[in-house]
Amino acid sequence: MVYTHVTGDLPPLEALPEIPRPNRVLMTTPSHFRVAYVINPHMAGNIGSVDTDKAQQEWDALRDTYSDLGVEVSAVEGAAGLPDMVFCANQTLPYQTPGGARGVILSRMHAPERKPEVQHYATFFEGQSYEVHALDADLPGDFEGMGDALWHPGRYLLWGGYGYRTDAEVYHRLSTALGFPIAALALTDPDFYHLDTCLCPLDEHTALIYPGAFDDDGLGLIHHYFSRVLEAPEDEARNLFACNAHSPDGEHVIIQRGCDETNKQLREAGYTPVEVDTDEFLKSGGSVFCMKLMYW
Ligand code: ARG
Repeated sequence: MVYTHVTGDLPPLEALPEIPRPNRVLMTTPSHFRVAYVINPHMAGNIGSVDTDKAQQEWDALRDTYSDLGVEVSAVEGAAGLPDMVFCANQTLPYQTPGGARGVILSRMHAPERKPEVQHYATFFEGQSYEVHALDADLPGDFEGMGDALWHPGRYLLWGGYGYRTDAEVYHRLSTALGFPIAALALTDPDFYHLDTCLCPLDEHTALIYPGAFDDDGLGLIHHYFSRVLEAPEDEARNLFACNAHSPDGEHVIIQRGCDETNKQLREAGYTPVEVDTDEFLKSGGSVFCMKLMYW
C-alpha cells in the first residue's frame, strides 16, 4: 500500500515487521567527480569549480569517519565521464526482507547524463549475491533509489519522496512487488529535490526534517510515524544540507560542518553530531547522505 496522507487504515509502527539496521556502507571514489552540467539549482554557477584535491580529502575523511564508527566501508571505482557517480545513494535501493532475503532495486535516473551510472551498481550487487531487480521496462516512471526512498529505521516501511526526480506511480509498483508499505511525500521546493535533502530518519522514533520542503499531507505522515521531529532552520537546510546528515547507529549523526542550530537540537535530543566537510560536494547539490549507500 502507498499512503499519501494520514488515514484510519495506516498501519501502526509496532505492527510493521522489524528489519535490522544495515551495517555496511558503500562509497564511490571521487576521482571523476566534477560539476559538468546543471540538473539541480545548487549546481548553477558551479560548472568547473570543484577543487578535485579537496574533494578527495573530504571523501577520505568521510570514509574514515564511517570506519571510526565501526561501519564496514567498501568502495566502487568512479568512472570517467560520470561526474555524479560519486553520489552513490541514488542508483539503487537495497533492501532486506523481514525473512532475511537481500535484494536491490535499480534506479531509472531522471537526467540522461546519469543513466549510465546504474549499471556499475548492478554489477557490484551481483557480486554480493543480491537479487537484482530493474523497474519494468514497459512502464514509465523514474526512480532515484535512496535519493528519494529511505527506510524507516528498524521497520519494513519505506519513505518515498516524489515530484522532481522520482514519479509517485513507481512506488505503487514497488509496494505491490515487495510487500512493504510506503509513506509517499510530495516534495514542494526545487532546492530540496531529493527526499534525503529534507528528511533524515535518525532512529525509530525520531527524524530531522526541513518542514518547508513538504506539504501538509506529508508533514502529517511524518508526525504520525515519528513521535519526535527535529526541525533544521532554513539556512542550514538549504545552504549546508543539514538534513542530508546520516546516523549509521541511532547515536552519532554525521553532518556537514557549521550546522550549529541543528547540532544544538541534536545534542539536546541525546545524539552526538560528528561534523565533516563536504563543501566541494555541496557545489553539486549533495552532502553526507548522498555520498554513501547503506546495505546489509
Ligand atoms: N548532482 C547530483 C544530482 O543532482 C547530486 C545528487 C545528490 N544526491 C542526493 N541523494 N541528494 O543528481
